[in-house]
Amino acid sequence: MAEGGPFGLLRGDEFDRDALALAEASAGIGVWSIDLTTSCVRGTAQFFRILGLPPTTESIPVDVVRAMRHPDDRERVVAGFRQALDGGNDSYEIEYRIVRPDGGTRWIFGRGRVIRASDGTPLRYSGVDLDITDRKATEAALAAATEEVARMNRELEQRVRERTAQLELEAKRRTEAELRLHQAQKMEAVGQLTGGIAHDFNNLLQVIMGNLEIARMQVARDPMPPPRGELLMRAIDTAQRASQTAKQTVHRLLAFSRLQPLTPSELNINALVEDLADMVRRLLDENIEVETALAPALWPTFADRNQLESVLLNLVVNARDAMTQGGRLTIETSNAHARPSAAGAPDAEYVCLVVRDTGHGIAPEHLTKVYEPFFTTKETGKGSGLGLSMVYGFVKQSGGHVRIDSEVGRGTTVRILLPRATRGSAAARGAAGGVDGDAPPVARGHECILFVEDDEDVRRFGVSALEDLGYRVIAEPDAASALRTLDAVDGSRIDLLFTDVVLPGGMSGRDLAEVVLSRRSHTPVLFASGYTRNVVMPEGSPRLLHKPYTIEALASAVRGAIDGASK
Ligand SMILES: Nc1ncnc2c1ncn2[C@@H]1O[C@H](COP(=O)(O)OP(=O)(O)OP(=O)(O)O)[C@@H](O)[C@H]1O
Ligand SMILES: [Mg+2]
Repeated sequence: MAEGGPFGLLRGDEFDRDALALAEASAGIGVWSIDLTTSCVRGTAQFFRILGLPPTTESIPVDVVRAMRHPDDRERVVAGFRQALDGGNDSYEIEYRIVRPDGGTRWIFGRGRVIRASDGTPLRYSGVDLDITDRKATEAALAAATEEVARMNRELEQRVRERTAQLELEAKRRTEAELRLHQAQKMEAVGQLTGGIAHDFNNLLQVIMGNLEIARMQVARDPMPPPRGELLMRAIDTAQRASQTAKQTVHRLLAFSRLQPLTPSELNINALVEDLADMVRRLLDENIEVETALAPALWPTFADRNQLESVLLNLVVNARDAMTQGGRLTIETSNAHARPSAAGAPDAEYVCLVVRDTGHGIAPEHLTKVYEPFFTTKETGKGSGLGLSMVYGFVKQSGGHVRIDSEVGRGTTVRILLPRATRGSAAARGAAGGVDGDAPPVARGHECILFVEDDEDVRRFGVSALEDLGYRVIAEPDAASALRTLDAVDGSRIDLLFTDVVLPGGMSGRDLAEVVLSRRSHTPVLFASGYTRNVVMPEGSPRLLHKPYTIEALASAVRGAIDGASK
């Protein structure tokens, strides 16, 4: 080793001591040795510096050093030492804290070794200490940083999961909305098709039923000798019964297409349910339990009572058919807030009618089809597949919503929302007041009727029936010719304007009525219609005869209109 520097010109032992001191200082290592027989410790200057004590070459009691150990680490240090002593592997390493006399806490890394006498008796315990406080601080900072990264990762993953779920939900909602739109468009298309057909059938039925009635009256007036008379009567009976069935089917189709003339009024659904309770019970077998949960203080609704009754009965029959093995039928009512179909519209008030059963349920693939006309899973002759179509059309036409939830094997819930009656709806009451098509007494008269109907067969039947009832009839196919006739004849000779609501040539029955009323305000007006979509009756002329009508219904409606006006 070259002379000079810190080790130049030193004696051997001095060199050793100084070299060791320098190595200790530069590595930060303190060396110590405990005499296990005296329990005293000797240490290098660096050892004492680490402890924060004044360096000394003297032995000091080991208790002084022990007392400096951090209270939380004491047991661990002693246990480690014991294990080194008793475990046979005399060396030992540990990290622990000390509290210096100035109150500062330091982390120490200690490594020691037991030195024994030849008989195995432990004599000394020697080792080194290293101040690792800075390393510990770095480690802690690193651990904190690692934990922060892990936390950020977790948060990121969580955000990704949430966003994915949100996107999935949005996609699901979009698919559902598309499905609903598709479903609504399909229902609209089917509705228009059905409506067109039903409307034509309605006119045909009007002609068939009217002419059957004329035939019956003719046979009754002019009896034929038996058996021809009887045979003829029976044939007419059969044809009339079949026409009645056809009329019901056409009405349900019209109801589905929202073309059924409705006669809404303010009504309490609770009262309606209670009134029908006996009939509901009679429709069901003994093995079906009936439960009603009617909300007190239920709002009134504004709807056609007859139609709503048939809605409820249709739902009850469906529930019954789904519970052949027995079960429970629940009818509930409540007040509800829901969003109307118009986008962005605020919540509106509805009255809710729920029919719930514990039957076999509806398969998911059938759920989108149940409103379609003629969709049925019932065997031939048991169901026509028009019940829910009628329910759907009626509810939509009444400004409401219908929803079906079903679970195979558990049951079905049909939820109907109908608008709460408001002052506005009650005021509209007069507008659509209808005439019951089944009024029985045949009322006759001799007044002059201006009869406007575009369908030639229906017109011919109407003229013949009205003339048969004693009236004088002027028949016209559209509004323009009706007005020409009015110009030609003395208007005061016309005792009743009886017109179809829908007329060709751009002028509806309603327009015609307005012109007539503007000329002679007290002329009675009677409308006939089987097709009332978007038709609002003019105020003060609420009479409406639903097609197809019988001669009795025609007679009573005509008489009622003329007499009502002259009162
Ligand atoms: N409560 C219910 N439980 C199980 N299935 C039902 C229920 N209501 C309706 N369905 C199913 O929906 C189909 C259509 O019902 P919808 O009332 O329109 O017709 P239908 O009952 O078959 O015949 P209709 O009512 O004209 O006599 C039924 O055939 C049945 O499959
Ligand atoms: Mg049904």
